[in-house]
Amino acid sequence: MAITLTKEAINRPGFDIDEENKLVFEGCRLEDLASNYGTPNYVFSENIIREKCREHIKAFDKCNIDYEVLYAGKAFLVQAMAHILNEEGMSLDASSGGEIYMALEGGFPAERIYFHGNNKSKEEIYFALEKNIGTIIIDNLCELELVEQIASILNKRANIMVRIIPGVDANTHEKIRTGQVDSKFGIPIQDFLNFFPAIIAKKHLIYQGIHCHIGSQLLNMQFYHLAAREMIEMIKSIEENYKVKTNILNLGGGLGVRYTQEDVPLSISEYVIQLVDRVKEICHEKQLAVPKILVEPGRAIIAEAGITLYTIGAIKEIKGLKKYLIVDGGMADNPRPSLYDARYEALIVNKFAMKPSETVTVAGRYCESGDVLIENISLPRAECGDLMVFFTTGAYHYAMSSNYNGFPRPPVILANNGKHGLMVQGETYQYLNQNHVIPDWLQQNRNKYNGNNSK
Ligand code: LLP
Repeated sequence: MAITLTKEAINRPGFDIDEENKLVFEGCRLEDLASNYGTPNYVFSENIIREKCREHIKAFDKCNIDYEVLYAGKAFLVQAMAHILNEEGMSLDASSGGEIYMALEGGFPAERIYFHGNNKSKEEIYFALEKNIGTIIIDNLCELELVEQIASILNKRANIMVRIIPGVDANTHEKIRTGQVDSKFGIPIQDFLNFFPAIIAKKHLIYQGIHCHIGSQLLNMQFYHLAAREMIEMIKSIEENYKVKTNILNLGGGLGVRYTQEDVPLSISEYVIQLVDRVKEICHEKQLAVPKILVEPGRAIIAEAGITLYTIGAIKEIKGLKKYLIVDGGMADNPRPSLYDARYEALIVNKFAMKPSETVTVAGRYCESGDVLIENISLPRAECGDLMVFFTTGAYHYAMSSNYNGFPRPPVILANNGKHGLMVQGETYQYLNQNHVIPDWLQQNRNKYNGNNSK
């Protein structure tokens, strides 16, 4: 039975219904994207990515302070993304040499890159300093020594910020909390003042400020405010104890997004304005100048810009218990349900205007019982060959994808107003094997047995 569905009823950014009643994303018919690129595939809306960047920048512009918005590359980074971010005037939080390399290859300016990570290797630090990236966020004291050593060998002075564990336990999934007292990221706040002399004593490092990141998928401001207070109090203590000015305060990322109807995030501008207001208030109370504020949104920029398309390849009903729709992807392109019990919403593209008539479980094709993408979703009666779209799959999907079970990763497509093109080609079997090597002694056996193991 068909129901009238409007664009508003789908209520997802970038979606529309065309004159032939087909579902379109960024002006591209989902059915066409599936037939052009095969499934599974990831599709990103260029307009949504740009809008989300602009929303951050516009909100900060209104606040009348010095600021920088760092996109957290770990959420999704490819060269085309680096290109868009650069055009939008964003900076970048890179968490590895690999991300720095990708950004530079995508034409991203080195000076706007901030290098994160709690165990940066020597090679990565050399690489970052040789490429003149803007700032290194020091995570621990071993790293402080290492960066000083390498900067001295290279005869450079490096801008640094230092990550602090603020001791704020944000209410989000435990695996994506990072500000609690026992976090593995940063220097415990109670030790920071004692360590500070070592930080400013380094001849090749220029102390710029402090950083914290309390967690991800945060749906209200309560914990940001607590963290801001801890951090500003620390800035005050540094000034009082050591007469050193902290120019920059980086409050991390973490703003949540809508995966399902139940997630009601703050808008980006509400988040920015409330955060900055609170920072100003606390600085005023402490009689401090407001430092330059940095934020590091990943998910808030890219999550809702991305969707995933799958084809249903098998349907299995276990009478009285469960009905499975099995799609041609799963935990290797979206590990979030199995890692964080993440929940998603989806539609059957070619039946999107039909009334839901059954409750099913959408499972993937990987050899793990835990490879379930959605438990209990109401959908119209599905058939093999139907196309499914999953919403809000832009963040930590492609970035966390794997080749489990020997499946090539899906292609990544950029769409803009009816245009579409590849940002990453789908992998091939050859690609999966390109780094495989058979050690020479095995090679000899292989020739000897010629593929026949029976002597
Ligand atoms: N800054 C730092 C230092 C971070 O560690 C992170 C995320 C961010 C910024 C960006 O956070 P966002 O705005 O994206 O929440 N794989 C998990 C998320 C891990 C987040 C890691 N750090 C997931 O899929 O939920």
